[in-house]
Amino acid sequence: MIIFNSGAQLKLYLKNLQNQQKSLGFVPTMGALHRGHISLIEAARAQCEPVVCSIFVNPTQFNDLSDLQNYPRTFEADCQMLESAGCDVVFAPAVSEMYSAKELELKRLAVEDKSWAEGRTVDFGVLAEVMEGAHRPGHFNGVAQVVSKLFRIIEADKAYFGQKDFQQLAIIRSMVKQLGMPVEIIACPIVREANGLAMSSRNERLTAEERNIASLISKTLFKVKELKTSQTIADLKAIAAEEIKTEPKIQLEYFEISDTETLQPIADYSQNKNAVACIAVKLGSVRLIDNVVF
Ligand code: PAJ
Repeated sequence: MIIFNSGAQLKLYLKNLQNQQKSLGFVPTMGALHRGHISLIEAARAQCEPVVCSIFVNPTQFNDLSDLQNYPRTFEADCQMLESAGCDVVFAPAVSEMYSAKELELKRLAVEDKSWAEGRTVDFGVLAEVMEGAHRPGHFNGVAQVVSKLFRIIEADKAYFGQKDFQQLAIIRSMVKQLGMPVEIIACPIVREANGLAMSSRNERLTAEERNIASLISKTLFKVKELKTSQTIADLKAIAAEEIKTEPKIQLEYFEISDTETLQPIADYSQNKNAVACIAVKLGSVRLIDNVVF
């Protein structure tokens, strides 16, 4: 496995491979890797050669400075996991490699005066107005900004994303379509802990007790899924809120039942069967998201 910090050198290396027979597979990450990330590498490994993984904690997608500062960084362990999973290339750029000082300043100004329009390159319309988009202003612009830069450097045939970040996947698909990028986006299923908790780098910041408590998040989603045909959407939402309330340490941020394509809230499951239930909570200072497709 070979590690690059420079985008130009990585580009040159990939060009020189000139592997015409096989697809170039790409898995973007922010590191602190777990089995969820590794499942993406394995999916890429099964279809592609070489497999490139990026590790970059992207400052422009954070709207909470302490979340950015506390984001776990475990580069050595990440590389070991990637190597055992059969990853060929790691791209681990510094912030200055990915962004000019001007771009970072624009983001800082946008955060401070809460005008998120600066630096916007793609308009996601209603897709970005709900759920994560509504609760984390500017987040998806930052995601699109970095993923489009990574796509331009790596020029992958296929890029792998987890359904754990359901809305992010929709945003990436929309971006690729709008910008006409020649990359196939492949969705991979959510990998969970034995107790049902969706794996996340942020789980690192939970105590053992909190990890136990956090199993209520997916239990709630699966309960709602089971009741989907016997209750109205309003009742399902009320049931979810009640369930989460049974654990005083968990604060519900949102629970939505949405169309899987448009991500807009649906009014009636019997009329719209392409539904996904999405949840965001806070457990202590850690923000967690999860979803289940009906
Ligand atoms: P990160 O949170 O590190 O996630 C990288 C990829 O791993 C994403 O596609 C995410 O959906 C997937 N993933 C995370 N947990 C998973 C799980 N339990 N099961 C399956 N897949 C999982 O998402 C990002 O980074 C960033 O926003 C990024 C796209 C890299 C842009 O900065």
